[in-house]
Amino acid sequence: MVETIEWIEGGPATSGHVVMIDQRKLPREQVFVTCRTYEEMADAIKTMVIRGAPAIGVAAAMGVALGVQQGADFEKVCNTLAATRPTAVNLFWAIGRMRTLRASLNGAPAEEIVRRMIEESQQIRLDDIEICKAIGRNGASLVPDGKTVLTHCNAGALATAGYGTALGVIRAAVEAGKKIDVFAGETRPFLQGARLTAWELQQDNIPTTLITDNMAGHFLRSGRIGCVVVGADRIAANGDVANKIGTYSVAVLAKENGVPFYVAAPVSTFDLTLASGDNIPIEQRAASEVTEVFGVPVAPENIAVENPAFDITPAKYVTAIVCENGVARAPYEQSLRAFAGGSKKVSA
Ligand code: MRU
Repeated sequence: MVETIEWIEGGPATSGHVVMIDQRKLPREQVFVTCRTYEEMADAIKTMVIRGAPAIGVAAAMGVALGVQQGADFEKVCNTLAATRPTAVNLFWAIGRMRTLRASLNGAPAEEIVRRMIEESQQIRLDDIEICKAIGRNGASLVPDGKTVLTHCNAGALATAGYGTALGVIRAAVEAGKKIDVFAGETRPFLQGARLTAWELQQDNIPTTLITDNMAGHFLRSGRIGCVVVGADRIAANGDVANKIGTYSVAVLAKENGVPFYVAAPVSTFDLTLASGDNIPIEQRAASEVTEVFGVPVAPENIAVENPAFDITPAKYVTAIVCENGVARAPYEQSLRAFAGGSKKVSA
């Protein structure tokens, strides 16, 4: 499996930089993008070179480290990175962690500040991989043996620093010897399911079938799907889940057909400052993502378009939320707080 994002150390005369696989080009091309400045990193997050909540958190942390290395104004660095995408709270969580460290280093020599900020961003990346593995271990027992798992979007190694959240649960179930296969919803309009999830699972030799999003109800009704597992971009205190557009429809159809609907996400995706999903900002993306397929127009010119990138799945449709500290169930007001270790301040 290729690395999603890596910090490359600088030499005696060069600064460190970040290398990421360009997720816009997968699966047809494996092209890598290099970021040497925080501005380049902000652009990479905004333009979806890297995407997925935990991955953009890691990218933002490394972006802050680049900015500190550049000697740029710290507030401007944090604010620029925080303005890239609004929904995934991991972005703000990671910037907040970098801010806390920076504040503790006031008065330290410049070289030490740069070194410690780079180390912190690398630690966030390493922690994320371990957290995903813990999510996988906690969730593996929920996956019924001998059945199909339905997932939506890409919550895999590419959406994290490695291993994945929803795909981490699937990987861990396979590693535990379960005979499962995966149905991947294609995830219109950006096609994260078709391009990224199908590719990732194929690389791991996990049997995978690609379906279009509007086939989910048909297969959930068929009795073939043992459970649904998806990731999340932000989870409110009451257990409402923001995830890729289309997740809500899958959750309602799962409940209607008696299929468990699991959300796999790290504690850094919890936003316990928000009472419900109604307060989660939803990113609106370009109309061209809907009217064009790979640059080819498929709709009449000047047609009105809506393109919300995420939707909210109310907690009543969520069977359980799997995090690195365990499996949270309703009432989520209590269980999420217990797993998060108290309320969490999110700021950017
Ligand atoms: O717009 P994207 O591709 O960043 O959206 C990604 C998702 O919605 C994922 O399901 C979510 O971030 C969880 S990733 C572990």
